Amino acid sequence: MAHCCINPSILSADFVNLEAELQRISTADAVHVDVMDNHFVPNLTIGLPVVQRIQEVSSLPLDAHLMIADPDRWAPAYAEAGIESVTFHVEAAKAPVRLARELRFHGAKAGMALKPATAVEPYLDLLPEMDLLLIMTVEPGFGGQAFLDVTLPKIRKAANAVAGSGLPVAIQVDGGVTEETIVRAAEAGATVFVAGSAVYGQTDPEQAIASLRAAAKV
Ligand code: DX5
Ligand code: ZN
Repeated sequence: MAHCCINPSILSADFVNLEAELQRISTADAVHVDVMDNHFVPNLTIGLPVVQRIQEVSSLPLDAHLMIADPDRWAPAYAEAGIESVTFHVEAAKAPVRLARELRFHGAKAGMALKPATAVEPYLDLLPEMDLLLIMTVEPGFGGQAFLDVTLPKIRKAANAVAGSGLPVAIQVDGGVTEETIVRAAEAGATVFVAGSAVYGQTDPEQAIASLRAAAKV
């Protein structure tokens, strides 16, 4: 699958002015929304009611990244609410295939996410059930961390498996994506790039998106 998308993460945006913050990323492909429950990760953000309001005021589709315990129970409601893409962590899911099928049944794209220490091989057989594979390039929980180069071989393995299968599965990377690290992630085969501080930490987020696109050639 060709490179495609820059999805800014609003984790680094001003949470009191989210509607205005969304207007500063109008040239992005989707809005990456980080849901954290203080159980699966040691941080707490927002839940479904706020995500739904963001969707109502956003002109871009939403890419929800659920860093939560028990996604089997909580993730389907995001799909039912019409969120375009719903990604859960395989470390937390009890039945990833059943969950992905449920997300797709409700019309969402199904994504599975892997933390840096989670090997991708055991999950490659599940790719036909998924629309997106998220390879975390930092430990999930916080923005502003440094990109972990040790994840590059895993991105490459995943990209090769997807290419070999011919399946339309996007390979997303999230964490520490900058104008510099995006080049390595793209070369390794990532196709969708999440960037928080590299977009909202800049004075001109639209310009930051353009620079990331140029660096990744997307
Ligand atoms: C981290 C989140 C990321 C975060 C990325 O757990 O999943 O989406 O916003 O932030 P940066 O781009 O600053 O690493
Ligand atoms: Zn994320």
